Amino acid sequence: MTEKKSKITRSQFLGIAWGGSLALIFAQVAVALLRFIQPISTGGFGGLVYAGKIDEFAIDSVNRILAGRFFISRTPDGIMALWQKCTHLGCAVPWDEKEGKFHCPCHGSVFDVYGEVLSGPAPRALDYFPVEIKSGEVWVDTGTPTQRSKHDPSHITGA
Ligand code: FES
Repeated sequence: MTEKKSKITRSQFLGIAWGGSLALIFAQVAVALLRFIQPISTGGFGGLVYAGKIDEFAIDSVNRILAGRFFISRTPDGIMALWQKCTHLGCAVPWDEKEGKFHCPCHGSVFDVYGEVLSGPAPRALDYFPVEIKSGEVWVDTGTPTQRSKHDPSHITGA
């Protein structure tokens, strides 16, 4: 009985090693690219953001949700997620608890609890994000801000 040994030449071995290394590199690049182009689905601005339990938001309160760059404004009518971005030149607009209004530090625009302009130069109401309340949890889709010229009650999600 003769035993046949398969021999692999040095150049074949190097070719296989080289090809394997290239395949690994391409696979890593492909995974990195996929992660880069994949939309952010949860957790941060640009995706679905968990704001908190509905009971955590008292009626007639405004709370900043830092991770989502928005404010949860809860009124007797319901709940809104207002983007903090000023509709004048884009400054972050803080909520002034004493005034009971949003007051832009850049050029002085003032907005009410619904994001409606009380005084300019802001040309329109603050943008808002869709809100969904599931099992008492408030979720906000920060990937789709809605622009509006004026506030309308239809922009509020009932709570
Ligand atoms: S950026 Fe807010 S008033 Fe100008």
